[in-house]
Amino acid sequence: MKKGLFITFEGADGSGKTTQLNKVKTFLENKGYDVVVTREPGALETGKKIREILLHASEPVADRCEMFLFLADRAQHVETFIKPALIEGKIVLCDRHTDSTIAYQGYGRNQDIELLKSLNKIAVNEIVPDLTLLYDVSTKTALARVGSDKDRMESAGIEFHTKVRNGYLELQKENPQRIKLINANNSIETVFEDTKNIIMDLLQKV
Ligand code: TMP
Repeated sequence: MKKGLFITFEGADGSGKTTQLNKVKTFLENKGYDVVVTREPGALETGKKIREILLHASEPVADRCEMFLFLADRAQHVETFIKPALIEGKIVLCDRHTDSTIAYQGYGRNQDIELLKSLNKIAVNEIVPDLTLLYDVSTKTALARVGSDKDRMESAGIEFHTKVRNGYLELQKENPQRIKLINANNSIETVFEDTKNIIMDLLQKV
């Protein structure tokens, strides 16, 4: 049923993953591929409302509420956008997906990781990335790149963000076939060379 390719971009806030995603889009379009770019949370109307709460709520958001909101956004996004695009044969480039929930809500906020994996399964309804690019950068560098204008998640502190980074690295070790690790401490062009090599490898296999 699914004809397209699903590629997700993961990493810390300030890892440079969004810059790389946009470069991949141009690269693939120049090669003639039909590409769509999307993100979690907040791709479409419902998601945008959820994103607003998640990143800019003016009252404290309970950890379990945060968890369900990210998952609700994902369920809607997969059903109404990602799945139809894949069925049409497009390459879907998605800025964050299931691994963000395990890294941030699981490792970062100490929610039960096995439970999160089960909830992720419900949210995605069998749509799984063909490839995940994980941009790893030291937490200090990442937070410096974010700067002083931080949203609710970015303001969570260095201890939280260190746990998130370690969580991502753990996930990569668990899923070495799907998740490819990229050193994002390097220059944008060097990181893009690494990114391109991994993408070309995938395209040759399909
Ligand atoms: P963004 O700044 O990359 O758009 O992501 C928004 C924030 O939401 C970022 O700090 C990571 C966080 N996030 C989670 O905590 N859990 C999730 O499942 C997702 C998708 C994002």
